[in-house]
Amino acid sequence: MTRIDHLGIAVESIAAARGFYEALGLHITQEETVEHEQVRTAMLPIANSRIELLEPLREDSAVARFLKKRGPGLHHVALRVDDIGATLASLKARGVRIISENIQTGAGGHLYFFIHPSSAGGVLLEICQDIDPGALPELGE
Ligand code: CO
Repeated sequence: MTRIDHLGIAVESIAAARGFYEALGLHITQEETVEHEQVRTAMLPIANSRIELLEPLREDSAVARFLKKRGPGLHHVALRVDDIGATLASLKARGVRIISENIQTGAGGHLYFFIHPSSAGGVLLEICQDIDPGALPELGE
């Protein structure tokens, strides 16, 4: 684990939510549609981490179901690793419940998978790794 990569926050609408974050002095630097998750994502850098706003594109998406059940709020915590393949293998070997069988590609081209909250103390945990660490120069590493 190298750091908390981002906090994922479910919103009904990025357009409606952004004003609050802008009032805090944060700004959206990257907005992207992730088709296979049926979400629109917006990234707001904060120091060497980020807030990720998640807006559902369809009523039957996981984020739409989350909003229906729990309302807007913290959806997941994302931890960054240097070797996502080794992390996945090690977690599987320990019997940790992984949500998707394979590593997936998300917003900005990073690699990720999710650990089910039942294996992570009630928190939906995303494990992620950048393909190209140079792709995020604003992080200053
Ligand atoms: Co995320």
